[in-house]
Amino acid sequence: MEYRTIAYKGSKRKLLEQIQSYAKEIKAKTFFDGFSGTGIVSAHMRKNGYVVAANDLNFSSYVYGSVFLNGFEKDTVEEHLSHINQVSPLSGWLTANYSGTSARVIRGTGGNIEERPRGFIRANAMKIDAAREYIESKKKLLSEHTYNALVFSVILGADKVFNNSNDQKSALKEWTKSARKPVIFKSPTLIEGPRGKQLHGDILEVGLSGDMVYLDPPYTHGVLYASCYHLNDSIAHWNKPVLDYDYAIPRPIDVCFRKNAQRAGGFYNKTSARIAFENLFKKNRAKRIVLSYSDAPRNTLTIEELIKIGKCYGNVKVDSLAHQLCMQPKSQLQRSTQLKEHFIVVDK
Ligand SMILES: C[S@@+](CC[C@H](N)C(=O)[O-])C[C@H]1O[C@@H](n2cnc3c(N)ncnc32)[C@H](O)[C@@H]1O
Repeated sequence: MEYRTIAYKGSKRKLLEQIQSYAKEIKAKTFFDGFSGTGIVSAHMRKNGYVVAANDLNFSSYVYGSVFLNGFEKDTVEEHLSHINQVSPLSGWLTANYSGTSARVIRGTGGNIEERPRGFIRANAMKIDAAREYIESKKKLLSEHTYNALVFSVILGADKVFNNSNDQKSALKEWTKSARKPVIFKSPTLIEGPRGKQLHGDILEVGLSGDMVYLDPPYTHGVLYASCYHLNDSIAHWNKPVLDYDYAIPRPIDVCFRKNAQRAGGFYNKTSARIAFENLFKKNRAKRIVLSYSDAPRNTLTIEELIKIGKCYGNVKVDSLAHQLCMQPKSQLQRSTQLKEHFIVVDK
């Protein structure tokens, strides 16, 4: 089944069957998706009959997971979407900050200034502004599930026409073909299956539950999810945050971690990540914990370090799958096939 969700670094879209096979082996009925990201693992497991609870730190992930695990009123969503796709464009917060071009000093050129795309062509940014304002204006009349599904649809539309499919930290030098296409808002996939629950918080503070717990944490401080996908969070909240314009693409000031000398959370730093994993494993009463991690050279922890932590809590088996690491945006693909995605399976 094709699940409609956003593009995301580290998405497990291609590994869904493998993840499900670990739950099948122990005849799990309940499943916890601890770092749910795009919500695709939760969606797949619900679709296959598992009772799923999920969690992520990012608010946009809360929206995706809520939609996949609770569903929505399909006809109402379709009705609003046909209106949203026709709504008069509006120049608002997104258009002002993320559309057209801006003059930027280009790194490594000795201070050269060039006019570069900011993310969206103006016509698309105005449609996204109008769509998101429309949903907000109807919020009181909509059920929470319909509201979340519509917000997800706007994020999906924006994701398709953003001028960089890799992340939202920068935009490509030239407008891509997809960025020039008119934005279309489509509903996310409606999943049927047992109803689940999406949580939103630091996993270290959220209670874990389920026969099988799946953990797919960030692997490296090079991919700080809150900075990589800040625009999805801003569209989800629609709180029009104050931005820092020193970046290639303006960023909400609360996700400029390095500049604010702030930590992004326990999993991005070697010492705190080791402690975080130990605490997570200790807290767990699941029959099985499955941890995804890769062996890229700049990752926070090594596979060996994680195996050692796992062994303190149960029997460990490791499956390694060949994995392709995307080193560059799509337009300049460079792939390495040396890397492996590991599943560290810990049974109590
Ligand atoms: C590798 S991605 C997960 C991808 C997901 N499995 C998928 O297929 O879409 C890692 C996720 O961990 C989340 N995250 C980072 N630190 C976290 C924390 N302390 N608690 C909960 N989630 C966290 C990030 O927001 C990100 O969505």
